[in-house]
Parts: sequence; C-alpha cells; structure tokens
Amino acid sequence: MTRTYVVTGSASGIGKATSELLRERGHRVIGVDLRNADVEADLSTTPGRERAVADVLTASDSKIDGIIAAAGIAAPKALTVAVNFFGVTALLDGLAGALAQSDSPRMAVVSSMASLQENSAELVDALLAGDEDLALKIGTALEAEGSEAGFLNYTSSKRALSRWVRRESIAPRYAGTGIPVNAVAPGTVLTPMTRDLLVSEEGRTMVDAAVPMPLNGHSDPVVIARLLVWLTSEENTHVTGQTIYIDGGADAALRGDDIWN
Ligand code: NAI
Repeated sequence: MTRTYVVTGSASGIGKATSELLRERGHRVIGVDLRNADVEADLSTTPGRERAVADVLTASDSKIDGIIAAAGIAAPKALTVAVNFFGVTALLDGLAGALAQSDSPRMAVVSSMASLQENSAELVDALLAGDEDLALKIGTALEAEGSEAGFLNYTSSKRALSRWVRRESIAPRYAGTGIPVNAVAPGTVLTPMTRDLLVSEEGRTMVDAAVPMPLNGHSDPVVIARLLVWLTSEENTHVTGQTIYIDGGADAALRGDDIWN
C-alpha cells in the first residue's frame, strides 16, 4: 500500500537515501530541508519549524503515515542543539495530529553513537525539559570554551534525543494511539557530514578509535535508510522506545557484553 512519509534532511546523506528508498518502494515522500526539498525550511528556528509544519500539512492534506527525522548537524556550536533536538521534537509535535489520521502511523529519528559519548548533563536536562532558551545559553557557553567543549552540543543533543524517544514512546499520545517511536544510532556513515574528517589518515584514525566498526566498517547511507524504512513500515507493530545501534559492532565493542547492570 502506498504511504505518505515526511523525511527531514532529505537533500543529503541519510535523509536523501531514505527518501530514495521509500520512493523506489512506491511511497510518497514529502522532503524537508534547507534547500532542494519539497518543503524548504530552517528547522533551527521557531518560525522555520512553524513554516515546515504548515507547508507539510498543506502538501499532505493533513494525513501522514510516517515521519523520519534525519536532519542534523555536527558543529561544535549551540546551533547543533537547536537543529538536532528542537528541530526534531517541535516538528513531531506539530505533525502529531496529521499522523494520527493514519491507520498505521510510525515515527523514527536519527540519533547517533555519539549518544553514548561524554556529554553535558546540564544541557541534556535543559533539552529534556524543553527549555530552548536555557539550552542555547548552556550550548553557547560550551561553544565559547573551544571545539572540544563545543562538541558536547552534539553528544548532548543525541543523548537527549534518545532519552526523549524512550520517554515519549510510552506516552498516551504515542503508544496510546498505536504509534511506534524509535531512534537509530549509526556508527560512521559515508555522507557529506563525515567527508572532510575521513579524507586524511589522521582523521580516519581518530574516528575509528572513537567508533570502532569490526563488522563491515563504515557504512553507506542506504544501510541506515533500510532500518528507518522498516521501523516506520506497517510491519513494525511492537518495537518502540528503542535506540537501535546500526554501527558495525561499535556499541558492543565499546560497552562490552553486559549493559544490564
Ligand atoms: P548530511 O549533512 O549529509 O545531511 C544532513 C541534512 O540535514 C542536510 O541536507 C542539511 O541541509 C539538513 N539540515 C541541516 N540543518 C538543517 C536545518 N537547520 N533545517 C533543515 N535541514 C537542515 O548528514 P548525514 O550524515 O546524512 O546526517 C543525517 C543525520 O544522521 C544527522 O542527524 C546526523 O547527526 C546523524 N548521524 C550521522 C552519522 C554519520 O556518520 N554521517 C553518524 C551518526 C549520526
């Protein structure tokens, strides 16, 4: 059956591969991105998010079967939390009514292996409290300390996103209305986001030390797209609240065989 999907970050990398796969399988995709998309909007700002929601509702006649939020940046800046956290949650909130019109509504977001890395607990708390002013203040202070502290904006945005998924998945508005909500956490994926870093031997060594991938190494974006497409398909009726590491074994290599204590 043809379904209507909203895919953010559709102009590049994982979002682009996901849009292409969905279209190949006969579905309708409303792509959202800064440029080169059906809906062009800046998800880092409140007016941009409102515009995205309004334009998606118009394009979909207010009925959506699946939402896949892949738009994101990895800059060591406060802007990263605005895009990666509020650019996801505000859009999902704004489109929840249209999703509820579907017989089999599904949502998935793109977190990261970085959700397991060192982060700022204070920033994660501000994000989970939905306090964007405070989060941007903390993020800007981290940014001013330099790129290492600034990168905590990225790790914190992904930790908060994975925790948001876990918390919200069982709420009445999602589990209670039959909507599975999940995150995928890729290892290193060959997209424009990682291109510059992987060009040099030094960059590759650094990335592979932080994210070791014994199974098949770095992945193409379509690998992540296939999991996102399954998670948001009618076949997924009971997987919810999860962050699924799709990382060539990085999580198992880093956290070991007992994560249940
Ligand atoms: P990419 O840079 O190829 O694509 C990201 C897309 O998001 C771009 O088309 C960009 O225009 C869009 N975007 C950025 N800021 C936006 C804004 N303010 N409003 C609307 N759209 C905006 O990156 P990639 O690799 O495809 O990343 C997709 C997601 O996957 C991100 O959330 C990233 O954090 C995550 N990820 C990527 C990994 C990798 O190794 N490439 C690893 C783990 C997670």
